[in-house]
Amino acid sequence: MAKSDLRQVAARETGGGGGLHVAIIMDGNGRWATARGLPRIEGHRRGAAAVRRTVEAARRLGVRTLTLYAFSSDNWRRPDEEVSALMRMFLEYLRKEADECAAKGIRISVIGRRDRLSSVLRRAIEQAEADTARGTSLHLRIAVDYSARDSIVRAFGAWKGQHEPTREEFARLLAGPVPDVDLLIRTGGEQRLSDFLLWESAYAELHFTRAMWPDFGQPDLEAALRDFGVRERRFGAIPAATAV
Ligand code: IPE
Ligand code: IPE
Ligand code: MG
Repeated sequence: MAKSDLRQVAARETGGGGGLHVAIIMDGNGRWATARGLPRIEGHRRGAAAVRRTVEAARRLGVRTLTLYAFSSDNWRRPDEEVSALMRMFLEYLRKEADECAAKGIRISVIGRRDRLSSVLRRAIEQAEADTARGTSLHLRIAVDYSARDSIVRAFGAWKGQHEPTREEFARLLAGPVPDVDLLIRTGGEQRLSDFLLWESAYAELHFTRAMWPDFGQPDLEAALRDFGVRERRFGAIPAATAV
């Protein structure tokens, strides 16, 4: 598939808004490092470089929304040292990248709980979101202290209507005006969701790759989009040209 065809795939109109929603479970940093005799934290550092490459590739290809799983609510179970290093890197990423994202029209949002993050990190998140709020080329959503189950429970608790919410009302409460996930990628070879975007991925196409996250970049994103481009999405119906 030629680059221009890939751009057409990425720009596909699905949930409204023109352009795909791609979500990535960025897995394999620890194994990448261990296989090289390096500390796991070095894998995360290289993972941050992969984030920069992938965001830029997504923007160039015309992806509309990119949601990256950076830290799950279950990742608090890791050793303190690893958790602190991840939080430090996240802070550094926001401080360093927000200006460049603003210049490139990339809007940053952070999803997940904020009450367990440090106040310094919370302020940096608010600053990055404010500085990039006008971006329209790519919506970059970073999931930190994120649990899909928790976010569903919270949305349920926030419902104030007198009637049972419709799917559309519930989806808006849960994710705002963000469209459903079209393509969900997981690196690192595991084939599970690990509590990521459970509602929003109801009809997502799944793409699993053995590539470890620190090695991921534009060619891998292109391969995933190529794979997506030949899938037939049916949403429960039968293929358009099939006779009954
Ligand atoms: C993903 O890589 C990054 C986070 C979960 C923060 P891992 O740290 O899970 O790497 P592996 O799966 O142990 O290789
Ligand atoms: C999922 O990866 C979370 C992130 C990529 C941030 P994990 O490595 O935490 O998932 P499990 O434990 O293998 O399911
Ligand atoms: Mg992992």
